[in-house]
Amino acid sequence: MRGRFITFEGGEGTGKSTHVAMLGERLRTFGIPTVLTREPGGSPGAEIMRYVLLSGAARPLGPNAEAVLFAAARDDHLNTLIRPALEQGKWVVCDRFADSTRIYQGVAGNVDTMAIRAMERIIVGNTKPDLTFILDVPAKEGMRRADTRRGADGPADRFEGEALTFHERLRDGFLTLAANEPDRCALIDATTSKDEVADQIWRVVLKKLNPATSPIQFDEAANA
Ligand code: TYD
Repeated sequence: MRGRFITFEGGEGTGKSTHVAMLGERLRTFGIPTVLTREPGGSPGAEIMRYVLLSGAARPLGPNAEAVLFAAARDDHLNTLIRPALEQGKWVVCDRFADSTRIYQGVAGNVDTMAIRAMERIIVGNTKPDLTFILDVPAKEGMRRADTRRGADGPADRFEGEALTFHERLRDGFLTLAANEPDRCALIDATTSKDEVADQIWRVVLKKLNPATSPIQFDEAANA
């Protein structure tokens, strides 16, 4: 049976990486083979493109070219890691995926929506996430958290370095996405404590991806 595909999305400093790791640990505790990965990157070819994108080397090429590079990295990641893992019945938990292109390049970067949708159709095809968590914190708070994580003097990457208005557009974009696709997307208030956020995420996983309602039944279902 095909595994499940879960993605985490949101602006900067929303805690995605922490919650990808915490969810992965919980799934493994319940005996579910789980692969944790991230975008851009996640496969050797895509990690090269990650460097080109996040160092800002591709920025002079413009947002259209950046969108194409994110899609190219995604193609490699899907073909070499995500699809094979799902076919083996593993669950894949990915830190950012195609929604980041829709919001960062499309909404905030003004790349033509039709072009983004066309690339998504070609590259992602049927490998759509079963469940997407959108972690939400106010843009200013997210930037503050990202600054703290990086250390006061650490250099901001290509997108962290954008102005507050850019980050506010990102947040609005993700909130709109959550409202437009409520079956796939779960909006999570990520301003509360790490453990509370993790518990909210776990409750959604149990509700959406398993007919059982308790972790014990979840365990049995996983081992069946
Ligand atoms: P990363 O260091 O993984 O940061 P974060 O913790 O914020 O996820 O950097 C990924 C950056 O790339 C982030 O600023 C969002 C951006 N991005 C896009 O602009 N488009 C995309 O399609 C993806 C996957 C990421």
